[in-house]
Amino acid sequence: MKILLTGGLGYIGSHTAVEVINAGHETIIIDNLSNSKIEVLEKIEKITKKRPKFYQEDVCDINALTKVFKENPDIFAVIHFAGFKAVGESCKEPLKYYKNNLISTLNLLEVMEKFNCKNFIFSSSATVYAVSEIMPLEEDFPLGASNPYGRTKLFNEEILEDYQNAHPDFNIVLLRYFNPIGAHESGLLGEDPNGIPNNLMPYICKVATGELDHLNIFGKDYNTKDGTGVRDYIHIVDLAKGHIKALEKMLEENVGLKIYNLGTGTGYSVLDIVNTFNKVNGNLVKYEFVARRPGDIAMCYASPSKAEKELGFKTTKTLEDMCRSSYLYQKNNKK
Ligand code: WQD
Repeated sequence: MKILLTGGLGYIGSHTAVEVINAGHETIIIDNLSNSKIEVLEKIEKITKKRPKFYQEDVCDINALTKVFKENPDIFAVIHFAGFKAVGESCKEPLKYYKNNLISTLNLLEVMEKFNCKNFIFSSSATVYAVSEIMPLEEDFPLGASNPYGRTKLFNEEILEDYQNAHPDFNIVLLRYFNPIGAHESGLLGEDPNGIPNNLMPYICKVATGELDHLNIFGKDYNTKDGTGVRDYIHIVDLAKGHIKALEKMLEENVGLKIYNLGTGTGYSVLDIVNTFNKVNGNLVKYEFVARRPGDIAMCYASPSKAEKELGFKTTKTLEDMCRSSYLYQKNNKK
Protein backbone atom coordinates (compact mmCIF):
# COMPACT_ATOMS: atom_id res chain seq x y z
CA MET A 1 0.00 0.00 0.00
CA LYS A 2 1.01 3.66 -0.39
CA ILE A 3 1.85 5.32 2.92
CA LEU A 4 2.55 9.04 3.32
CA LEU A 5 4.89 10.10 6.14
CA THR A 6 4.88 13.78 7.01
CA GLY A 7 8.15 14.80 8.67
CA GLY A 8 9.56 11.53 7.38
CA LEU A 9 13.18 12.72 7.42
CA GLY A 10 13.13 13.47 11.14
CA TYR A 11 14.38 11.23 13.95
CA ILE A 12 11.19 9.20 14.48
CA GLY A 13 9.93 9.66 10.92
CA SER A 14 13.06 8.29 9.26
CA HIS A 15 13.24 5.22 11.50
CA THR A 16 9.56 4.57 10.78
CA ALA A 17 10.12 5.06 7.04
CA VAL A 18 12.69 2.24 7.15
CA GLU A 19 10.20 -0.10 8.85
CA VAL A 20 7.33 0.91 6.50
CA ILE A 21 9.53 0.12 3.48
CA ASN A 22 10.72 -3.13 5.08
CA ALA A 23 7.06 -4.05 5.60
CA GLY A 24 6.65 -3.85 1.81
CA HIS A 25 4.73 -0.58 1.52
CA GLU A 26 5.37 2.15 -1.03
CA THR A 27 6.57 5.14 1.00
CA ILE A 28 6.12 8.82 0.25
CA ILE A 29 7.79 11.45 2.44
CA ILE A 30 6.89 15.12 2.75
CA ASP A 31 9.32 17.17 4.82
CA ASN A 32 10.21 20.89 4.76
CA LEU A 33 13.69 20.23 6.24
CA SER A 34 13.05 22.76 9.04
CA ASN A 35 14.42 20.25 11.56
CA SER A 36 15.91 17.50 9.38
CA LYS A 37 18.47 16.99 6.63
CA ILE A 38 18.09 15.84 3.01
CA GLU A 39 21.01 13.41 3.52
CA VAL A 40 18.62 11.26 5.59
CA LEU A 41 16.81 10.33 2.35
CA GLU A 42 20.00 8.75 0.97
CA LYS A 43 20.50 6.90 4.27
CA ILE A 44 16.98 5.46 4.17
CA GLU A 45 17.72 4.28 0.63
CA LYS A 46 21.08 2.83 1.68
CA ILE A 47 19.44 0.83 4.49
CA THR A 48 16.38 -0.38 2.57
CA LYS A 49 17.71 -0.32 -1.02
CA LYS A 50 14.51 1.58 -1.89
CA ARG A 51 14.22 5.35 -2.31
CA PRO A 52 10.99 6.88 -0.97
CA LYS A 53 9.28 9.43 -3.20
CA PHE A 54 10.18 12.77 -1.61
CA TYR A 55 8.50 16.16 -1.55
CA GLN A 56 10.33 19.08 0.06
CA GLU A 57 7.15 20.85 1.07
CA ASP A 58 5.46 22.27 4.16
CA VAL A 59 2.32 20.44 5.32
CA CYS A 60 1.00 23.88 6.36
CA ASP A 61 0.92 24.81 2.66
CA ILE A 62 -2.40 23.31 1.58
CA ASN A 63 -1.70 23.80 -2.12
CA ALA A 64 1.56 21.88 -1.83
CA LEU A 65 -0.16 19.16 0.18
CA THR A 66 -2.95 18.92 -2.40
CA LYS A 67 -0.33 18.48 -5.11
CA VAL A 68 1.15 15.51 -3.22
CA PHE A 69 -2.25 13.81 -3.03
CA LYS A 70 -3.06 14.70 -6.66
CA GLU A 71 0.15 12.99 -7.77
CA ASN A 72 -0.46 10.04 -5.41
CA PRO A 73 -4.27 9.65 -5.40
CA ASP A 74 -4.30 6.19 -3.79
CA ILE A 75 -2.52 6.87 -0.48
CA PHE A 76 -3.84 4.28 2.03
CA ALA A 77 -2.68 6.00 5.23
CA VAL A 78 -0.92 9.08 6.54
CA ILE A 79 1.51 8.92 9.46
CA HIS A 80 1.80 12.48 10.73
CA PHE A 81 5.18 13.24 12.35
CA ALA A 82 5.72 16.78 11.08
CA GLY A 83 5.72 19.25 13.95
CA PHE A 84 7.87 21.36 16.21
CA LYS A 85 8.78 19.53 19.42
CA ALA A 86 11.00 21.56 21.74
CA VAL A 87 9.22 22.19 25.03
CA GLY A 88 11.35 25.20 26.00
CA GLU A 89 11.04 26.84 22.60
CA SER A 90 7.26 26.32 22.68
CA CYS A 91 7.09 28.41 25.87
CA LYS A 92 9.01 31.25 24.19
CA GLU A 93 7.14 31.03 20.86
CA PRO A 94 3.67 29.55 21.51
CA LEU A 95 2.12 31.08 18.37
CA LYS A 96 4.74 29.44 16.14
CA TYR A 97 3.92 26.09 17.76
CA TYR A 98 0.13 26.46 17.65
CA LYS A 99 0.15 27.57 14.01
CA ASN A 100 2.56 24.94 12.76
CA ASN A 101 1.42 21.95 14.80
CA LEU A 102 -2.32 22.57 14.38
CA ILE A 103 -2.59 23.95 10.83
CA SER A 104 -0.62 20.95 9.54
CA THR A 105 -3.19 18.56 11.01
CA LEU A 106 -6.19 20.62 9.84
CA ASN A 107 -4.74 20.72 6.31
CA LEU A 108 -4.19 16.98 6.29
CA LEU A 109 -7.78 16.25 7.35
CA GLU A 110 -9.15 18.58 4.67
CA VAL A 111 -7.01 17.14 1.87
CA MET A 112 -7.45 13.51 2.99
CA GLU A 113 -11.22 14.01 2.90
CA LYS A 114 -10.98 15.44 -0.62
CA PHE A 115 -8.96 12.44 -1.83
CA ASN A 116 -10.89 9.85 0.17
CA CYS A 117 -7.87 8.80 2.26
CA LYS A 118 -9.32 7.41 5.48
CA ASN A 119 -6.47 6.26 7.71
CA PHE A 120 -4.52 8.59 9.99
CA ILE A 121 -1.81 7.67 12.51
CA PHE A 122 -0.84 10.57 14.77
CA SER A 123 2.47 11.07 16.54
CA SER A 124 1.23 11.96 20.01
CA SER A 125 3.12 12.06 23.29
CA ALA A 126 3.07 11.17 26.97
CA THR A 127 3.10 14.92 27.59
CA VAL A 128 -0.69 14.93 27.03
CA TYR A 129 -1.16 13.22 30.41
CA ALA A 130 -1.90 15.36 33.47
CA VAL A 131 0.70 15.12 36.25
CA SER A 132 -0.05 11.86 38.03
CA GLU A 133 1.24 10.34 41.27
CA ILE A 134 -0.07 6.99 40.04
CA MET A 135 2.14 5.02 37.64
CA PRO A 136 2.15 3.38 35.15
CA LEU A 137 0.07 5.68 32.94
CA GLU A 138 -2.94 4.09 31.24
CA GLU A 139 -4.60 5.51 28.12
CA ASP A 140 -7.75 6.53 30.05
CA PHE A 141 -5.84 8.54 32.68
CA PRO A 142 -6.69 12.26 32.99
CA LEU A 143 -5.18 14.53 30.35
CA GLY A 144 -3.70 17.96 30.84
CA ALA A 145 -0.55 19.24 29.14
CA SER A 146 1.70 21.66 30.99
CA ASN A 147 3.34 23.58 28.11
CA PRO A 148 2.40 24.88 24.66
CA TYR A 149 4.15 21.99 22.89
CA GLY A 150 2.25 19.42 24.96
CA ARG A 151 -0.97 21.37 24.42
CA THR A 152 -0.51 21.19 20.64
CA LYS A 153 -0.38 17.40 21.00
CA LEU A 154 -3.48 17.44 23.24
CA PHE A 155 -5.40 19.83 20.97
CA ASN A 156 -4.48 17.69 17.95
CA GLU A 157 -5.85 14.61 19.72
CA GLU A 158 -9.10 16.47 20.41
CA ILE A 159 -9.36 17.79 16.83
CA LEU A 160 -8.87 14.24 15.53
CA GLU A 161 -11.44 12.81 17.96
CA ASP A 162 -14.02 15.45 16.93
CA TYR A 163 -13.34 14.77 13.26
CA GLN A 164 -13.67 11.01 13.70
CA ASN A 165 -16.94 11.47 15.61
CA ALA A 166 -18.28 13.40 12.61
CA HIS A 167 -16.82 10.93 10.10
CA PRO A 168 -17.23 7.39 11.54
CA ASP A 169 -15.68 5.81 8.44
CA PHE A 170 -12.44 7.74 9.09
CA ASN A 171 -9.89 5.73 11.09
CA ILE A 172 -7.46 7.26 13.56
CA VAL A 173 -4.75 5.78 15.76
CA LEU A 174 -3.18 8.09 18.34
CA LEU A 175 0.23 6.79 19.41
CA ARG A 176 1.49 8.33 22.66
CA TYR A 177 5.28 8.11 22.65
CA PHE A 178 7.18 8.04 25.91
CA ASN A 179 10.93 8.75 25.66
CA PRO A 180 12.31 7.50 22.35
CA ILE A 181 16.11 7.08 22.32
CA GLY A 182 18.64 4.97 20.43
CA ALA A 183 19.39 4.66 16.74
CA HIS A 184 19.23 2.27 13.82
CA GLU A 185 21.84 -0.53 14.09
CA SER A 186 23.52 0.68 10.88
CA GLY A 187 24.66 3.87 12.60
CA LEU A 188 23.23 5.78 9.62
CA LEU A 189 20.10 7.17 11.30
CA GLY A 190 19.77 8.79 14.71
CA GLU A 191 18.79 11.79 16.78
CA ASP A 192 20.50 14.89 15.48
CA PRO A 193 19.05 17.97 17.21
CA ASN A 194 20.25 21.40 16.16
CA GLY A 195 22.37 23.19 18.79
CA ILE A 196 22.69 22.13 22.44
CA PRO A 197 20.35 19.17 23.02
CA ASN A 198 17.50 19.58 25.49
CA ASN A 199 16.92 15.86 25.88
CA LEU A 200 19.03 13.51 27.96
CA MET A 201 20.43 10.96 25.51
CA PRO A 202 21.56 13.34 22.76
CA TYR A 203 23.22 15.47 25.45
CA ILE A 204 25.00 12.42 26.91
CA CYS A 205 26.19 11.45 23.41
CA LYS A 206 27.75 14.88 22.84
CA VAL A 207 29.56 14.58 26.19
CA ALA A 208 30.80 11.13 25.14
CA THR A 209 32.22 12.48 21.85
CA GLY A 210 33.80 15.44 23.63
CA GLU A 211 31.56 18.04 22.02
CA LEU A 212 30.25 18.93 25.49
CA ASP A 213 32.25 18.81 28.75
CA HIS A 214 29.92 17.03 31.16
CA LEU A 215 26.29 16.20 31.85
CA ASN A 216 24.28 18.29 34.31
CA ILE A 217 21.85 15.99 36.07
CA PHE A 218 18.76 18.06 36.88
CA GLY A 219 17.97 17.22 40.49
CA LYS A 220 18.98 14.45 42.85
CA ASP A 221 16.17 14.95 45.37
CA TYR A 222 13.19 13.44 43.59
CA ASN A 223 11.19 10.76 45.34
CA THR A 224 12.75 8.01 43.19
CA LYS A 225 15.13 5.11 43.88
CA ASP A 226 18.23 7.27 43.47
CA GLY A 227 16.74 10.76 43.57
CA THR A 228 17.05 11.39 39.82
CA GLY A 229 14.17 11.60 37.34
CA VAL A 230 12.62 8.37 36.05
CA ARG A 231 11.31 7.99 32.48
CA ASP A 232 10.15 5.24 30.14
CA TYR A 233 12.88 5.08 27.50
CA ILE A 234 11.89 3.15 24.39
CA HIS A 235 14.26 2.17 21.60
CA ILE A 236 13.46 4.16 18.45
CA VAL A 237 13.31 0.97 16.36
CA ASP A 238 10.77 -0.58 18.76
CA LEU A 239 8.81 2.65 18.53
CA ALA A 240 8.97 2.61 14.73
CA LYS A 241 7.73 -0.98 14.67
CA GLY A 242 4.78 0.10 16.81
CA HIS A 243 3.62 2.14 13.79
CA ILE A 244 3.75 -0.97 11.62
CA LYS A 245 1.53 -2.75 14.14
CA ALA A 246 -0.95 0.14 13.93
CA LEU A 247 -0.86 0.00 10.10
CA GLU A 248 -1.44 -3.75 10.14
CA LYS A 249 -4.53 -3.26 12.31
CA MET A 250 -5.84 -0.59 9.92
CA LEU A 251 -5.33 -2.97 7.01
CA GLU A 252 -7.34 -5.65 8.85
CA GLU A 253 -10.30 -3.56 10.03
CA ASN A 254 -11.86 -0.12 10.36
CA VAL A 255 -10.40 0.82 13.73
CA GLY A 256 -12.50 3.98 14.27
CA LEU A 257 -10.52 5.83 16.94
CA LYS A 258 -7.84 4.02 18.99
CA ILE A 259 -5.31 5.36 21.49
CA TYR A 260 -2.14 3.50 22.50
CA ASN A 261 0.88 4.15 24.70
CA LEU A 262 4.18 3.28 23.06
CA GLY A 263 6.55 2.65 25.94
CA THR A 264 8.30 -0.31 27.55
CA GLY A 265 6.47 -0.22 30.89
CA THR A 266 9.82 0.12 32.68
CA GLY A 267 11.09 3.34 34.22
CA TYR A 268 14.80 4.10 34.29
CA SER A 269 16.45 6.91 36.24
CA VAL A 270 18.94 9.39 34.81
CA LEU A 271 21.69 7.59 36.72
CA ASP A 272 20.55 4.25 35.23
CA ILE A 273 21.01 5.77 31.78
CA VAL A 274 24.40 7.32 32.53
CA ASN A 275 25.74 4.21 34.23
CA THR A 276 24.51 1.90 31.46
CA PHE A 277 25.91 4.22 28.81
CA ASN A 278 29.31 4.28 30.55
CA LYS A 279 29.20 0.48 30.97
CA VAL A 280 28.61 -0.30 27.28
CA ASN A 281 30.57 2.52 25.65
CA GLY A 282 33.50 3.03 28.02
CA ASN A 283 33.58 5.46 30.91
CA LEU A 284 33.01 8.54 28.78
CA VAL A 285 30.38 10.56 30.59
CA LYS A 286 31.24 12.76 33.55
CA TYR A 287 28.34 14.39 35.35
CA GLU A 288 27.42 16.87 38.07
CA PHE A 289 24.20 17.22 40.04
CA VAL A 290 22.52 20.61 39.65
CA ALA A 291 19.10 22.09 40.48
CA ARG A 292 15.93 20.57 39.11
CA ARG A 293 14.79 21.77 35.65
CA PRO A 294 11.56 23.78 35.95
CA GLY A 295 8.58 21.77 34.73
CA ASP A 296 10.20 18.36 35.18
CA ILE A 297 8.30 15.65 37.02
CA ALA A 298 9.79 12.90 39.18
CA MET A 299 8.48 9.87 37.40
CA CYS A 300 6.71 8.97 34.15
CA TYR A 301 6.35 5.54 32.59
CA ALA A 302 3.79 3.73 30.48
CA SER A 303 1.49 0.79 30.77
CA PRO A 304 1.97 -0.69 27.26
CA SER A 305 -0.55 -3.47 27.93
CA LYS A 306 -3.29 -2.07 25.64
CA ALA A 307 -0.91 -1.91 22.65
CA GLU A 308 0.42 -5.35 23.53
CA LYS A 309 -3.08 -6.84 23.69
CA GLU A 310 -4.72 -5.06 20.74
CA LEU A 311 -1.76 -4.53 18.38
CA GLY A 312 0.53 -7.36 19.37
CA PHE A 313 3.10 -4.63 20.13
CA LYS A 314 6.16 -5.81 22.09
CA THR A 315 9.42 -3.99 22.73
CA THR A 316 12.51 -6.18 22.27
CA LYS A 317 15.49 -3.84 22.64
CA THR A 318 17.35 -3.39 25.92
CA LEU A 319 18.65 -0.27 27.62
CA GLU A 320 22.14 -1.41 26.59
CA ASP A 321 20.99 -1.55 22.92
CA MET A 322 19.64 1.99 23.29
CA CYS A 323 22.90 3.32 24.76
CA ARG A 324 25.16 1.43 22.35
CA SER A 325 23.26 2.47 19.22
CA SER A 326 22.93 6.10 20.31
CA TYR A 327 26.69 6.40 20.74
CA LEU A 328 27.45 4.57 17.48
CA TYR A 329 25.34 7.10 15.58
CA GLN A 330 26.88 10.06 17.43
CA LYS A 331 30.41 8.84 16.67
CA ASN A 332 29.53 8.45 12.97
CA ASN A 333 28.00 11.91 12.80
CA LYS A 334 30.26 13.98 15.05
CA LYS A 335 30.26 17.58 13.83
C1 WQD B 1 14.67 13.03 30.68
C2 WQD B 1 15.26 13.06 32.09
C3 WQD B 1 15.51 15.26 32.99
C4 WQD B 1 18.61 16.53 30.12
C5 WQD B 1 10.91 15.14 26.69
C6 WQD B 1 9.87 16.04 26.15
C7 WQD B 1 8.63 15.27 25.86
C8 WQD B 1 8.91 14.05 25.03
C9 WQD B 1 10.05 13.22 25.60
C10 WQD B 1 8.21 14.58 22.81
C11 WQD B 1 14.57 14.06 33.00
C12 WQD B 1 16.87 14.59 32.80
C13 WQD B 1 17.64 15.79 30.80
C14 WQD B 1 19.80 16.91 30.79
C15 WQD B 1 19.02 15.79 32.77
N1 WQD B 1 9.20 14.44 23.71
N2 WQD B 1 17.86 15.43 32.09
N3 WQD B 1 19.96 16.52 32.09
O1 WQD B 1 11.72 15.86 29.72
O2 WQD B 1 11.12 13.39 29.94
O3 WQD B 1 10.51 14.62 27.90
O4 WQD B 1 11.15 14.08 25.79
O5 WQD B 1 7.07 14.32 22.94
O6 WQD B 1 7.79 16.16 25.19
O7 WQD B 1 9.59 16.98 27.13
O8 WQD B 1 12.93 14.09 28.36
O9 WQD B 1 15.28 13.76 27.82
O10 WQD B 1 14.49 16.11 28.37
O11 WQD B 1 14.64 14.37 30.19
O12 WQD B 1 19.20 15.46 33.94
O13 WQD B 1 20.70 17.60 30.24
O14 WQD B 1 16.62 13.46 32.01
O15 WQD B 1 15.45 16.00 34.20
O16 WQD B 1 14.53 13.52 34.30
P1 WQD B 1 11.56 14.52 29.11
P2 WQD B 1 14.40 14.63 28.63
